[in-house]
Amino acid sequence: MATTLITGGTVVTSTGRSAADVLIDGERIVAVLEPGSMLLGSDLASAADTVIDASGKYVIPGGIDPHTHMELPFGGTAASDTFETGTRAAAWGGTTTIIDFAVQTYGQQVMDGLAAWHDKARGNCAIDYAFHQIIGDVNADSLQAMDGLVAEGVSSFKLFMAYPGVFYSDDAQVLRAMQKSAETGMLTMMHAENGPAIDVLVEQLLAQGKTDPYYHGIARVWQLEEEATHRAIMLANVTGAPLYVVHVSAKQAVAQLAEARDNGQNVFGETCPQYLYLSLEEQLGAPGFEGAKWVCSTPLRARAEGHQENLWQSLRTNDLQLVSTDHCPFCMKGQKDLGLGDFSKIPNGIGGVEHRLNLLYQGVVDGQISLERWVELTSTTPARMFGLYGKKGVIQPGADADIVIYDTNGHTSIGFEKTHHMNMDYSAWEGFEIDGHVDTVLSRGKVIIDDNQYLGAKGDGQFVKRSLSQYLI
Ligand code: URP
Ligand code: ZN
Ligand code: ZN
Repeated sequence: MATTLITGGTVVTSTGRSAADVLIDGERIVAVLEPGSMLLGSDLASAADTVIDASGKYVIPGGIDPHTHMELPFGGTAASDTFETGTRAAAWGGTTTIIDFAVQTYGQQVMDGLAAWHDKARGNCAIDYAFHQIIGDVNADSLQAMDGLVAEGVSSFKLFMAYPGVFYSDDAQVLRAMQKSAETGMLTMMHAENGPAIDVLVEQLLAQGKTDPYYHGIARVWQLEEEATHRAIMLANVTGAPLYVVHVSAKQAVAQLAEARDNGQNVFGETCPQYLYLSLEEQLGAPGFEGAKWVCSTPLRARAEGHQENLWQSLRTNDLQLVSTDHCPFCMKGQKDLGLGDFSKIPNGIGGVEHRLNLLYQGVVDGQISLERWVELTSTTPARMFGLYGKKGVIQPGADADIVIYDTNGHTSIGFEKTHHMNMDYSAWEGFEIDGHVDTVLSRGKVIIDDNQYLGAKGDGQFVKRSLSQYLI
């Protein structure tokens, strides 16, 4: 098999950094060595088939985005990135694995939903991919089918306390599914917002003529995120289910998670770049219909209330454990504009799979998180949390050679023109400037991004079966 040596760089892991060379044989890392090491009497640089010079740059494990929605049918349309376009965009941004959500819709068999997701992804991905399972209809059949998910490599499922009439589960359904989670070891992922209460507020706002995108954020008040988070924690406590709350945006919801963790409960939370950087006032409150670009649930929160700073702090203190994108892109034209004159009809979701590593690196530059925590939040903890660790999330012998060479002297301008590769007619991150650049990306030993060129191909990415979370007790 062909060997590759990455030489001269600084290898950064979740626990430290050191000057080291990385030797790859085929798809795997075979050695992490002192710079300039010899092998069987010859220096590695002359023995390797390919040498990549990473001098002055960071060598980090490829990003793992554990929350994406490619081609998700939602809000009367479907997320605009296919597995082909979305995974290619992810590769551009240094993400080498996504975990997407297979969907069981109401009335559908769980395994049929999973099979449909395999059909969408198979042969189309630029990078490796895995699945969680959305359980959109908790009933006797689906509870029984869930027994088979772990053997399929799907070791987590998502429930929704929001979106009545679509994916919503009531408390009785949540309790039963969590009992299954406790029994099988599957992680329960929760969209924690009180959907029925939100729907009343939506109806009342619309009746008052408050139809702009801004009111999406007013209807989905933080109290209804905090309340649902608390309820999810209590139901998990009753059942003994391990709980992971997705897209946390309210500081009060974080406080609920932190209290439960302090009390010894096995609960976790993720946030997303949009909740760290963007706000109700600036983005959702943009003039006219512009705010539709940032309609997502949970919603962007008021900067005046301090949510964003609190989320950064929670990432430092491990009250939140990782950062995903919740990539769920829709174009303005023909998709977001379904909600002109009625914010409740704007498809919910923001695209960002390409920008997570860069946006989080900016947090390192800004002094919000350390370099090692950057790697931990974007790769190592996602791998541990979702049963990929060892194969993914780490630079060590035996691991897949999913590697990013990151240049801190480089620059990434997300810009106002279309500079990204996602299948969207705008970017939620227009105007953002990043003091760093993804130079080279290897996916299982193959260079797929180098020198601002895409060198991969549709079908490079393989389905990865996941084990149970490392955080089970
Ligand atoms: O607005 C969002 N988050 N859309 C995607 C679906 C979900 O709830 O994660
Ligand atoms: Zn959700
Ligand atoms: Zn989501």
